[in-house]
Amino acid sequence: MAVSMRSILMQSVVRRRPVGRRSRAAAACLLFLAGGSALAAEANDAEAGRALFLKGTTAPACAVCHTLADAGAAGTIGPNLDELKPDAGRVAQAVRNGIGVMPAFDALSDADVQALAKYVSEVTGGQ
Ligand code: HEC
Repeated sequence: MAVSMRSILMQSVVRRRPVGRRSRAAAACLLFLAGGSALAAEANDAEAGRALFLKGTTAPACAVCHTLADAGAAGTIGPNLDELKPDAGRVAQAVRNGIGVMPAFDALSDADVQALAKYVSEVTGGQ
């Protein structure tokens, strides 16, 4: 009898718990999830950049012509990117317009070019 009274009391306490507290907890939980997915998105960016570097489109893959340690690429036709350390703008410019015998990569979307530029500049320390 005492136990059931207690559980009834508990239930009413639980039911009367202010909604604000629960939604605040939910908000904190969402923030935590958002933080986690931001990290995951960053890892995905690097993955996407690396995949693009290794993949040919209408032009051969970057890896055919360039050395880039992070991608396991050892091409020697173009400059060694680990040594050149291009910044993102320089990579995007070369990929968009071509330079010397390097063709322009017209088949890549702007998002692809950005991902490649960010990836190459970050892994080479070119910023
Ligand atoms: C057919 C071979 C070839 C391919 C494929 C190629 N490159 Fe190049 N790349 C070159 C050559 C050669 C140069 C040097 C051009 C010059 O300075 O005349 C160069 C230069 C560059 C430069 C330096 C540009 C500058 O401002 O000096 C970057 C950055 C670069 N390439 C990135 C890439 C990326 C990223 C890809 C893939 C989307 C790629 N390259 C694909 C041959 C290639």
